[in-house]
Amino acid sequence: MKAKLIDGKAVAEQINGETAAGVARLKNEHKLQPGLAVVLIGDDPASQTYVNMKSKKSAELGIHSEKRILPKETTQQEVLSIIEELNNDKRINGILVQSPPPPHIDEDAIINAIRPEKDVDCFHPENVGRMLNGEEDGFMPCTPYGVMMLLKYSGINPDGKHAVILGRSNIVGKPMMALLVQKTKGANATVTVCHSRTQNIAHYTKQADILIAAIGKPEFVKADMVKEGVIVIDVGMNRVKDASHPKGFRNTGDVDFKNVSEKASYITPVPGGVGPMTIATLMRNTLKACMIQNKIR
Ligand code: GUN
Repeated sequence: MKAKLIDGKAVAEQINGETAAGVARLKNEHKLQPGLAVVLIGDDPASQTYVNMKSKKSAELGIHSEKRILPKETTQQEVLSIIEELNNDKRINGILVQSPPPPHIDEDAIINAIRPEKDVDCFHPENVGRMLNGEEDGFMPCTPYGVMMLLKYSGINPDGKHAVILGRSNIVGKPMMALLVQKTKGANATVTVCHSRTQNIAHYTKQADILIAAIGKPEFVKADMVKEGVIVIDVGMNRVKDASHPKGFRNTGDVDFKNVSEKASYITPVPGGVGPMTIATLMRNTLKACMIQNKIR
């Protein structure tokens, strides 16, 4: 393999160490413990795994965590009343509703019901707006923020580089675009966003200095779609059937890692790349939420 591996696990551990230190300081100096509520509606196995990982990491870092696992038949009104309860719960500083919810749930209405001070995902329109305007003291969306940190810790400066994003979701593609294009240190990229209606995607991916894949298609990005020396960030997490694995499936990214890593200068693995960063930034946001709500600098 030619590319340098970007070790998301190692970077996430470093950030989690800082968060744990912050949590300990809050406990010692202010007798406070940050609290995170994670809401899961339905029984999607991948979502269950993510929710469990978030709760486990909270416990490891000293953050109080509550899991609310709701059956898939839960009504919109029932979810809204749980959000209201969590909005008013002093032990809870951060609220996260795992996406995607079942189809009968209006996700936007749920997000809008979360108090912006507790919106550690940075999905609420008020927080999205602040982030888009370049306010740096608010929340940052977990996955794109994790990607920015991976670039920083790898010594990669996006300034003046052409970043091509595959995917325009509210969770990754759109906020990723906003963070990369920002007129600030560690950003200043020229950004292109490709999506399902883009014609001749390879035309754009071949021009990428930094390629960020977040379209949810296993091994979509092939070696002949990228230029020599490209920096590849793979946000994909796809379950593909594989009888040779004990669980009957394996997780793979949106990039054909084996072949693309022969051409790239840097690449993130899946798993062990962006995934651990998403959780680390969530923990960091939860600590920040607790500090803001208690007016601690
Ligand atoms: N589903 C996939 N990524 C995320 C995330 O960062 N937050 C939430 N709430 N759901 C997700």
